[in-house]
Amino acid sequence: MEKQGLQVAIDGPASAGKSTVAKIVAQRFHYIYCDTGAMYRAITWKVLQAGVGLTDEAAVKQLLDQITIRFEPGTPVQKVFVDETEVTLAIRQPDVTNSVSAVSALPAVRAELTERQRQIADAGGIVMDGRDIGSTVLPKAEVKIFLVASVDERAQRRLKDNAAKGINTPLATLKYEIEERDRKDSTRKVSPLTQAADAIRLDTTSMSIEQVADKIAEIIQEKES
Ligand code: DC
Repeated sequence: MEKQGLQVAIDGPASAGKSTVAKIVAQRFHYIYCDTGAMYRAITWKVLQAGVGLTDEAAVKQLLDQITIRFEPGTPVQKVFVDETEVTLAIRQPDVTNSVSAVSALPAVRAELTERQRQIADAGGIVMDGRDIGSTVLPKAEVKIFLVASVDERAQRRLKDNAAKGINTPLATLKYEIEERDRKDSTRKVSPLTQAADAIRLDTTSMSIEQVADKIAEIIQEKES
């Protein structure tokens, strides 16, 4: 297939600003934006709805095989659908957030979603964010970024995001949840959160979203030329 642009992988821990920055960068280059975390959240939502055990790998995989997960453009956030049901808000609720690490640790789920993500990225012209994009999903991506920020800063950012969505979880709880998710995402057996050897690490603790987006845009432009 003819390439429509570069593959840009943006990885990093929870609430490091990946999706906000990835969206801005995708818009600037007219690339597609794919939020792989939303895909893991979508299957987790389905698992909770169906009442299937979070670690029942065979049952979860069977559910995943029966559903389509798709994105539609939307402001301020892309819309997410599981089959015909819109789950954009539902997948950000605490029940999904607190269960997604267990579901995303299942090897059969990772294999299937990795395959779907590779298909989405195949033609290039894509900014994909997640935990294992540069290391596993798109090892040949031309641009690999690993975003980090302090836990305090990430909890503050999530507090603001949540307030905008009408979710009122206290700061201390958010901090605890972020640390727990970091721990689970980094220690799981299959494709843990890791920085690819050839990824560029950006600490965004004291950077604005615009500064981070500008820096990544610069890196893409260098690779494009
Ligand atoms: O980016 P996020 O917080 O919406 O991601 C939700 C969860 O999905 C996260 O805790 C880990 C998992 N995830 C993953 O395992 N691999 C990815 N490529 C993206 C997300």
